[in-house]
Amino acid sequence: MIVVTGATGQLGSQIVERLLDRLPPDAVGVSVRDVDRAAGLAERGVRVRAADFTDPATLGHAFEGADKVLVVSAAIRGSGAIAANHAAIDAARDAGANRILYTSHQAASRDSLFAAQPTHAATEEHLAGLGVAFTALRNGFYASTLSFSIGTALETGQLVAPADGPVSWTAHADLAEAAAVALTEDGVLDGVTAPLTASEMLDLENVVPHERVSTRRDIAGKRSASTETST
Ligand SMILES: NC(=O)c1ccc[n+]([C@@H]2O[C@H](COP(=O)([O-])OP(=O)(O)OC[C@H]3O[C@@H](n4cnc5c(N)ncnc54)[C@H](OP(=O)(O)O)[C@@H]3O)[C@@H](O)[C@H]2O)c1
Repeated sequence: MIVVTGATGQLGSQIVERLLDRLPPDAVGVSVRDVDRAAGLAERGVRVRAADFTDPATLGHAFEGADKVLVVSAAIRGSGAIAANHAAIDAARDAGANRILYTSHQAASRDSLFAAQPTHAATEEHLAGLGVAFTALRNGFYASTLSFSIGTALETGQLVAPADGPVSWTAHADLAEAAAVALTEDGVLDGVTAPLTASEMLDLENVVPHERVSTRRDIAGKRSASTETST
């Protein structure tokens, strides 16, 4: 059985769908915090069990009988994130999984100033030290988070952002497909993967025109955009 955590989240839910394209439902299990939110999966024959990374005693039951466990990094900020990820990974090992997978990040680094990245780096190191086959999926920056960077530009016509560089903004759907391949095709993605990203890199000035806003340079370090009338 393959068990996926975070299956009521945006990425985890898409990964489960891509697994169900490939496997019978009784070969798939999910670990979720709220089983009611996964009732649809249970009706389809997926094993649904409750667990919370911050309550490690719950994890053994959720991972019981798993050959592979995919730990989707929990949406936990701050100092508890590393302990939570480690608890999930350790529980997967204790359950006897012969491969443990983890959704890391393309920018995982102990030295990063972006708070999530030292967490991913520490989790990768923990995973690599377990002595179990592993895959750290170095997922690209989510394209869905672009809305935070763009802010209200589409309404105001003004895009103001600090100096930025090109980013290979990546769709959840593509990352879900990659995770499903890693879970079902042995050896294709082993260890710390190459960055799993979109093939094109765009900075905000390239992204915003796709949303029918034209851009122009403003003062140094800032950029502004004015909305074009869409036809
Ligand atoms: N690559 C990137 O650019 C990027 C950007 C943002 C985040 N991320 C990481 O990618 C992960 C998945 O992204 P997403 O878009 O699927 O986010 P999401 O929809 O917010 O899903 C996060 C998942 O974490 C689960 N979770 C939160 N606290 C937990 C806990 N204590 N124990 C177990 N599970 C817990 C949530 O469970 P519930 O469904 O019960 O709430 C949810 O399923 C995020 O959690 C974050 O670590 C990556």
